[in-house]
Order: sequence, then structure tokens, then C-alpha cells
Amino acid sequence: MKQSIKLSKAGKRTIGMLFVVVFLVLFVFFRPKPIDNHNIEETKNYIVKIDYPTLDNKKILKESAEFIDNKKEEFIDSIKDLDLVGGAKYDFIATYSLNKMNEISGIKVTIFYYTGGNHYIREDKSYYYNENTKEFLGLKDFLKNDQSLDKLSVLAYYYLMEYASSNDVNILDNVVKDGTKADFKNYEHFNLTSAGLEVTFVPYQVASWADGEIKITIPYKDLTEVLKDEYIKDIDIIKPEEIKPEVRDLEEFKDKKLIAFTFDDGPGGKYTDMLLDGLDKYDAKVTFFVLGNRVNQFANNIRRAYKEGNQIGSHTYNHLNLYRLNDYDILKEVKNTNKAIRNIIGVEPTILRPPYGNINSKIKSLTNMHTILWDVDTLDWKNKNKDKVKEEVLKHAHDGAIVLFHDIYKSSVEGALEAMEKLYQDGYRFVTIDEMATLKGVTLDYEKSYFSF
Ligand code: NI
Repeated sequence: MKQSIKLSKAGKRTIGMLFVVVFLVLFVFFRPKPIDNHNIEETKNYIVKIDYPTLDNKKILKESAEFIDNKKEEFIDSIKDLDLVGGAKYDFIATYSLNKMNEISGIKVTIFYYTGGNHYIREDKSYYYNENTKEFLGLKDFLKNDQSLDKLSVLAYYYLMEYASSNDVNILDNVVKDGTKADFKNYEHFNLTSAGLEVTFVPYQVASWADGEIKITIPYKDLTEVLKDEYIKDIDIIKPEEIKPEVRDLEEFKDKKLIAFTFDDGPGGKYTDMLLDGLDKYDAKVTFFVLGNRVNQFANNIRRAYKEGNQIGSHTYNHLNLYRLNDYDILKEVKNTNKAIRNIIGVEPTILRPPYGNINSKIKSLTNMHTILWDVDTLDWKNKNKDKVKEEVLKHAHDGAIVLFHDIYKSSVEGALEAMEKLYQDGYRFVTIDEMATLKGVTLDYEKSYFSF
């Protein structure tokens, strides 16, 4: 038997209503995301105010919303049984900001919450993605090469120790070492800001719970070997005055015997000037390994030496035996010197002569500078006699030699210039360390120590 499918008027209306309901239900659940995704929730003892990020990367939307929601749960859990403080409700605020670097878009979620005490607690979390590929990016994607994480680890350690000493935070060296070691887990919370790479260390990672989160910013100038070039921005190089050093054509030195005169422990004021006055006659350029603590006092020596094409290297700040220092103090000796020099000539030195020649692989990995030692020692500091200084140089001179003097003694400068006179006649030419390396076809290696070329 055939059942009639003819519907009554009432039946038709019911079907019509059903369609409307289904449509409404679908709309409610699948409607497009609004531009602003605000969410405010208020109870007797708390207020939650959230701006969920809105952007076209679903993965980031999901991850960031999860992050916010988890934090919100934690917040509610921690305050739900608490009485109000001074009648004011506890609150939780989540906001976000966007930042763009070329095709990389970043979003930073910031959460403030108050669960008692004097302050809000703040947490930030950043997400990055490539606009073209929609790919999610982690710190790894910003790093320059395989060594970058190790370098970042040293920098983070240094800036944390700096932070601790200037903020009176009590931290333990070995805890900081552990919390900053080269493991991506230690660098989950990072952010590229206008000042540099901001790294956030969660409570317990490097300090006590009471110290909360600790945030450090590593300036871009320190990150040239850490971040890919495209992420290095606005390097803050202080240029008190524009110094353009003389650059000479090395062609004429190609077939000559070369020797590098190097001067430690200065600048030496009038003796350094005396030396610089004498160099032109031999078309000579030399290298100065200066002490950081003398840089400001003898800034004119450094400015002049650098401008005239000589090379400025570091001999550390206080001439301490680096073997006796902990990692932080080693870094301070090196970084403070580099900063002092940069303030004078606008660039940092790339070569280091450790006091007493004391260097090992640990110090090398910390300093990240090229280690330049010597193979001809004039013992000028001991004999303080220009004839003896000259004699020592002439006795040991050879092509590729690095000779050690100190431009803080008149006898050293006089001995050096007299030795130059003789060596020049013998066909030697006088070059800086960098010029020597170039002429000898040597690419300086951070892991090596150079005694000669
Ligand atoms: Ni010295």
C-alpha cells in the first residue's frame, strides 16, 4: 500500500521551522570568527578579561587560546577559595600584540594576573609563523647555525648574572648554568623586540620561586653569530664621531717578509704617540692590545691609532689571570673592554690577547674572539733598555713573526722603532694582525691560538 506523502499545512510549517532551527544551530557553531574576540567573565570574587588573538593562522590561534585557557584555569584554581583583599576582586587579563619582520609574523600573548600580594604576575608567550608557508616557527628557525645555541647559552648566562648583580637577586652559579645550558627547552620563551632577543626564564629555572620570572634582553650587537642576519635589526653602535680608518692596498706587501709588532698593556699616552709618530717612515701599521681600564683615559691614543690604520685588540679590562676567574668574571673582563673600545671608535675588537697568554678552550668558547699570542718576546718590561729590545727583535725576527712589546715604556718604543729601521732595510714590512692573516691567506679560527703566521 502506498502511504500518502501529502502534508497538511501544519506539517509544512513544522518542516519550515526545522530548517530555520538547523540553520540557526549551524550558524551559532560555525559562524565566522569575529574581528575582536573579547571575553569577559565575572563572578563574586574574580574578573577574567581576555582578548583572544585573531589572525588567520589557525594553529597559532589554537595554541595561544590553549595557553590562555590553561593559565586562566590555574588562576581560578588558585583564588576560588580565597577571600577578597580589601574588597577588590582578583583579576586575570590576557592581551596580545602582533609584530612583523619581513615575511615572519609574530604574536605575543601577555597575561597579567593577581592572586594576592603586591603585584600582578606577568607572563608572555610568543608565537611566530611564516606568512607564506603558514609554518610555525620556533627559536631554532631564527638561529644562524649549529653553534648558535651554544653561543646563546653563554650570552644568556652572562646577561642573567648581570641582571642578578644589578637587581640584587640571589642566584647560584650552577643553577644558572643549568637553566641556561644549550637546550631548546631552556629557551621556549623568547621574543624579538626592538632592543634585542628577550628571553624569559620561568620561576625555578634560574632562580628561586620568590624571584618569579626573570627576563633578560640580549642586545642585537651580541647576536650577530646567533640570529640569522635578517633578524638582526638596529644594531646600537655608538658612534661618538665618525672614524674612518685608513685602509691600505696590500698588493705591495705580497712578496715581502712580514712581521707584526704588537703592543700590550697600553695605551701608553705620550709613548704611544711617540710610536705612532715613528711608524710612517716605515709605512708600518701595528697592533695594540689595550687594557679596558685605560681606554677612557687614553681615548685619544686609541682614536688616532685606529684612524691611522693600526689595529686595536683587547688585552682584557683589568689584566687578571683568566684561569683564576669564574665564567661570569671572564665575560665581564672581555665584554667591558669591548664596550669601552666601541664607545671610542664605534667598533668592537675581534682579537684578544689574554694576560700572560693564559687561554684554554673554555675561555675561548666564552669570549668568542680570536686569540693572538706571540712568538718573539722582547722582555722589554724587564730589561727596559732600548738596545736590548732592539737586539731581541733582530735576533728572532722571521717572516710571519708576532713580536710582543709594551707601549708604556719609552725604551720599548725607541727599541721597536730602531728595530724597524734595520728590518725595513732587510726587506721586512710591518703589518697588523688582520693584514698579516689576509696576506698569509689565513682565515682566523676561534678555536686556535696564533703565535705566528
Ligand atoms: Ni700584559
